[in-house]
Amino acid sequence: MEIKTLKNYKELSSTVADIVEYTLTLPEPKLILPTGSTPLGLYKELVNRQLDWSTTTTYNLDEYVDNTIQNQSYRYFMMENLFKHINMDDDNIYFSGDTAVWPDLSYGTEVDLCLLGIGGNGHIAFNEPGSSFESETRMVDLTEETIKDNSRFFPSINDVPTQAVTMGLKPIMSSKKIILMANGKHKKDILEQAMYGDITENIPASVLQTHTNMETFYCD
Ligand code: PGA
Repeated sequence: MEIKTLKNYKELSSTVADIVEYTLTLPEPKLILPTGSTPLGLYKELVNRQLDWSTTTTYNLDEYVDNTIQNQSYRYFMMENLFKHINMDDDNIYFSGDTAVWPDLSYGTEVDLCLLGIGGNGHIAFNEPGSSFESETRMVDLTEETIKDNSRFFPSINDVPTQAVTMGLKPIMSSKKIILMANGKHKKDILEQAMYGDITENIPASVLQTHTNMETFYCD
């Protein structure tokens, strides 16, 4: 497993945007998308490129379980940073937790491309350390470390939701292609453990080593 180190955040964003742009040329493309600070540059770049998203379906990796948050929900994040700027059909946008419409990705939905960030504890989506590699989409309790990490997006740590619905590791791994993005020196150590260390449920991202079509992009 190779970690491809890019010059800077701009290059990371445009390299991944090239892969998304290619994916959007496939018939009825299906993408799994992340939130967080890492994909912000990518989404900006994709908006600037004015691509055709009209036949695309997207599945977001996770969503908080908390009806009181508005501007911090991942739905709001995705609307503001991507969806309201592109020509997606609203009916083709899925979020974890939309239980009425959430298709079970493990059974038959062929996702062309899954984009991921990595948490400081090695989580992908909200699959925290200890998550089974066979896990399905489900409700989870967030770890203290993740709550602390995410408090930067909230007025105070007490406002951070403690539960979320996350796509499981099994549906993530069933994607045809996976891209893992990491931005910043503070991610380097966990990224190296995940990509070069033991494959262990203590570092959920380490399962990605077993995927046959996976690329990892990093910048300082
Ligand atoms: P970040 O989060 O992109 O804000 O660093 C990544 C993650 O926790 O999955």
